[in-house]
Amino acid sequence: MCGIFAYLNYQVPRTRKEIFETLVKGLQRLEYRGYDSAGVAVDGSAKNNEKDANNNICLIKQKGKVKNLDEELYKKGTLDLDEELQTHSGIAHTRWATHGEPSPVNSHPHRSDKNNEFVVIHNGIITNYKELKKYLNSKGYEFESETDTEVIPKLIKYVYDNREKEHVSFSTLVERVIQQLEGAFALVFKSIHFPGEAVATRRGSPLLIGVRSQFELTSQHIPIKYSGNKSDGVQEKNSRNRAESVGEQQDLMDMKAVEYYFASDASAIIEHTNKVIYLEDDDIAAVINGKLSLHRVNRKTGEESVRAIQTLQMELQQIMKGNFDAFMQKEIFEQPESVVNTMRGRICFEASKVILGGLKDHLKEIKRCRRLIMIGCGTSFHAAVATRQILEELTELPVMVELASDFLDRYTPVFRDDVCFFISQSGETADTLMALRYCKDRGALTVGITNTVGSSISRETTCGVHINAGPEIGVASTKAYTSQFVALIMFGLMMSEDRISMQKRREEIITGLRDLPDMIKKVLELDPKIKCSAEELYQQKSLLVMGRGFNYATCLEGALKIKEITYMHSEGILAGELKHGPLALIDKHMPVIMVIMRDGCYTKCQNALQQVTARQGKPIIICSQDDQETIKSAYTTIELPHTVDCLQGILSVIPLQLMSFHLAVLRGFDVDCPRNLAKSVTVE
Ligand code: UD1
Ligand code: M6R
Repeated sequence: MCGIFAYLNYQVPRTRKEIFETLVKGLQRLEYRGYDSAGVAVDGSAKNNEKDANNNICLIKQKGKVKNLDEELYKKGTLDLDEELQTHSGIAHTRWATHGEPSPVNSHPHRSDKNNEFVVIHNGIITNYKELKKYLNSKGYEFESETDTEVIPKLIKYVYDNREKEHVSFSTLVERVIQQLEGAFALVFKSIHFPGEAVATRRGSPLLIGVRSQFELTSQHIPIKYSGNKSDGVQEKNSRNRAESVGEQQDLMDMKAVEYYFASDASAIIEHTNKVIYLEDDDIAAVINGKLSLHRVNRKTGEESVRAIQTLQMELQQIMKGNFDAFMQKEIFEQPESVVNTMRGRICFEASKVILGGLKDHLKEIKRCRRLIMIGCGTSFHAAVATRQILEELTELPVMVELASDFLDRYTPVFRDDVCFFISQSGETADTLMALRYCKDRGALTVGITNTVGSSISRETTCGVHINAGPEIGVASTKAYTSQFVALIMFGLMMSEDRISMQKRREEIITGLRDLPDMIKKVLELDPKIKCSAEELYQQKSLLVMGRGFNYATCLEGALKIKEITYMHSEGILAGELKHGPLALIDKHMPVIMVIMRDGCYTKCQNALQQVTARQGKPIIICSQDDQETIKSAYTTIELPHTVDCLQGILSVIPLQLMSFHLAVLRGFDVDCPRNLAKSVTVE
């Protein structure tokens, strides 16, 4: 949705130019999360304000992509770029507009007043902003933007202005502010009243903190202090023998220099450090004098009294484009490896056994359920559509597939004996997360299929499967889809292990999975041919994609890819529905792609092909290599290796991923940053 990045250097001298570079690089890593405007806040320079060097904050904001902001930073002649700052806290943000059009004034950081006393960056949405704005207006606070976020810096200034002479710490101010906020947020604050300090907090939107010091961290945990009731006394007991904060451990060892990185996404931190702390909802993290401490209001029963310092497993190389022109292209070509990573350590091909570590303890309960409900949005929903039929076959259970938003709109009945799957690459999609909470409240067993370890869906589900596809940066989802597909099939295989009647079918699928990476490589070799077809099609206005059965999901997913990055109209059509309406669209001008594979729907698909060619349609057909019958009626074919029916959709979607990529490039669009979209949709 939006990207948060902040950098605090304590007793680590950095020039202002280096600080800008760190902030801009961080934003560039997050740009896939939002790219209609960006901004930074840093301390103003001595050159700018001789008397009060540490007491002014400079805000620089720009419409458009991060590179526009980068250019703007160096245009600001008033800032001394070479000035060295021993200790400094800088915040930065890349935005995807929800309230108010993309413009400098609507971009973050937002400020409390014209003197920039408090500035803040925000991911998420404040649902009660209208009420807060009205109240603050009545107290004389003037607003300049159309955003929901702006109430936050105004509110913190209001709390600060009304503190009745008591000394209030920065984190206490933030604590008082978040008690008034409704909705979802990840926030990082900076203030002229607390130079060199930063305070960060979250509720519903992810936020993590990276720590870099030249010294080894001696503890793996940070204790949490509670400012509300301490009735259970547990936190004192647990934290007594632990150092109070990261910085304090360093003090104990006479270490002073430390750097902190705050980000909404690990990909912005990994090049600096792999030591991170994931904040939980309502945690307030504050850095004062280089020490990081965590604090929250009230301790709930059973709650952890510490946060672990975790080691990120991600590699820097995984988030670099390498030799590819776009992340999407790189991710399409990674699929032979990403599907292996989904299966790694989980399938024994010799024994035809599948063990999903995250589900094995819950398998008995899952097997007793009344029905499976698979819930997701966009591409993740298509992964559910793609595997529904084989899951019905292997589990012999009714399987419902649901778009999260519609599922919630309908207040769909859910019962204790339902098992609900939440499929999400990011693990943060608001609609899917809301649907998860809805199902949890009704007592259903919840299972996550996520790509992001530590994400909200991964943490809030009872159990689940990490698909291990590696970071997906391109807004258009590609490798996550094929890995979700594989993970769901593995679930079906695990459920059917003791069904004697299904052994042959299981073995056939497991062999298909073993051969899948090589087959994907063969499909990727078709790229030059697909590019030629794209060259013929790229000036068209519309493109229909038709198929049925196991390949219907490919049509939906292919059409979504095409509309998402090429801005052409595209529709996935169930071939069985052709004569109930869509056939009226067919003539010699309408571009059509058909998916016809050798499976149970082959004859019916042949009928659909006849209906199209009889109306002078000239379809491009994605078909099996050996299917002469189809090849002879086609205008052009994209011929795929043949695999088991239920896995064929993994192969048939790849030509459409490649086609959409080439169409977007030929039409001159930015493949990784489609207009109006962002990678992770954390608003409903
Ligand atoms: C785990 C380890 C993996 C290790 C493997 C073998 C993690 C993240 N994974 O993988 O590094 O190689 O054991 O020992 O440490 N979960 C949810 N919801 C989700 C996804 C997962 O609750 O959406 C839960 C699972 O139920 C499980 C845990 O998270 O308890 C880890 O899941 P997963 O990574 O899929 O488990 P393994 O494959 O066993
Ligand atoms: O992170 P999620 O899988 O929950 O995201 C769901 C959709 O927003 C996502 O798949 C979207 O449709 C993609 N941009 C499509 O390529």
